[in-house]
Amino acid sequence: MPRITFVQPDGTRHTIDAESGRTGMDAARGLGIPGLRGECGGQCLCSTCHCYVDEQWLGRLPPRHPEEENLIDFVWEPREASRLTCQLVITDAMDGLVLHVPEYQIGGP
Ligand code: FES
Repeated sequence: MPRITFVQPDGTRHTIDAESGRTGMDAARGLGIPGLRGECGGQCLCSTCHCYVDEQWLGRLPPRHPEEENLIDFVWEPREASRLTCQLVITDAMDGLVLHVPEYQIGGP
């Protein structure tokens, strides 16, 4: 089972066992990882599941699909490393993946 680490803006790390075939958002929400509200339930409509892929993983994940790409244009502080974790389906090859939770998503409305 791939292990995924979510890093909070204050540096706190949460490493979880994420079942292959689930999305990063589902895995995180199921374990109460702060900052990933996933308000649209994974429909690629809200962007409250936004994370930044650690630089060591840039270029190693499947590319964004067009709907994800479009919504990332509207997130706060989009970066090359931005991903919507509801659109990121976990595979065994992602063992060790590190995702950074954006500061603006902590303590939001
Ligand atoms: S949960 Fe809404 S876009 Fe990912």
